[in-house]
Amino acid sequence: MPVISTSGLARTFTTKAGPVHAVRSVDLSVMPGEIVGLLGPNGAGKTTTLRMLTTLLAPTGGTATVAGHDLLTDPAAVRAVCGYVAQSGGADPYLTVREELVTQGRLYRLGRAEAAARAGELAAALGLEDLLDRKAASLSGGQRRRLDIAMGLTHRPAVLFLDEPTTGLDPGSRADLWDLVRSLRDGAGTTVVLTTHYLDEADALADRLILIDGGTVVAEGTPAQLRTRYAGSPDASLQDAFLAATGRPANPADAAPVAV
Ligand SMILES: Nc1ncnc2c1ncn2[C@@H]1O[C@H](COP(=O)(O)OP(=O)(O)O)[C@@H](O)[C@H]1O
Ligand SMILES: [Mg+2]
Repeated sequence: MPVISTSGLARTFTTKAGPVHAVRSVDLSVMPGEIVGLLGPNGAGKTTTLRMLTTLLAPTGGTATVAGHDLLTDPAAVRAVCGYVAQSGGADPYLTVREELVTQGRLYRLGRAEAAARAGELAAALGLEDLLDRKAASLSGGQRRRLDIAMGLTHRPAVLFLDEPTTGLDPGSRADLWDLVRSLRDGAGTTVVLTTHYLDEADALADRLILIDGGTVVAEGTPAQLRTRYAGSPDASLQDAFLAATGRPANPADAAPVAV
């Protein structure tokens, strides 16, 4: 049984300039314990898809279930099983790491002692123990991202959604984050859906990749399957496969310079 299943999931925004079809129709299925990478150019609809799956945004079309709960009829149950780490992060720069983790626990209705204990567990699991009394504003990018993820794990979600968790991190911090994602899956069996622009990351970390472009799924498969299908060989570069599938590079920084 898939832990996430969507059918024709869609979201159109109404703007002064007219309708924006951010997500036209997304059909996807994720099995428990999978690490799935959502790839796609800027504006493809990745964030909008994650925001719908975590109930932060109402779909304007289609249906979805998360851990058996219907997004439309039982959003509270969906919220209880999902953790979400937004692209921009959620930590308040003026709180300490400890205050942030305890506050998050209290938001999930833990008692004071329980919230303090959970903060300690999360700090230990995410390597934040030495930083508990530091203000979030003083953390490095990688430390800050670990705090964001700790906050998203407060209620032990079965499904964790990470929106560009490693954008802007140095290679060492990115590798640490990959280890963390793997350990969540291997330890607690957490299902992880993450978006990324980095193809090496998608390749190294994800069991399966879903390419989104123009608000729909244009390709999916294991990294090896995508290489073979779109670039002709399991040894081809994922970049070439991505280009063939979408006509665009995955990472805007990799775009060919425009001749002027
Ligand atoms: N609140 C909004 N109002 C209007 N348009 C939006 C809104 N949020 C996103 N969009 C548009 O929807 C499209 C998809 O955005 P997004 O899901 O953020 O893409 P991605 O995360 O793949 O870069 C983009 O064209 C974006 O400008
Ligand atoms: Mg986005």
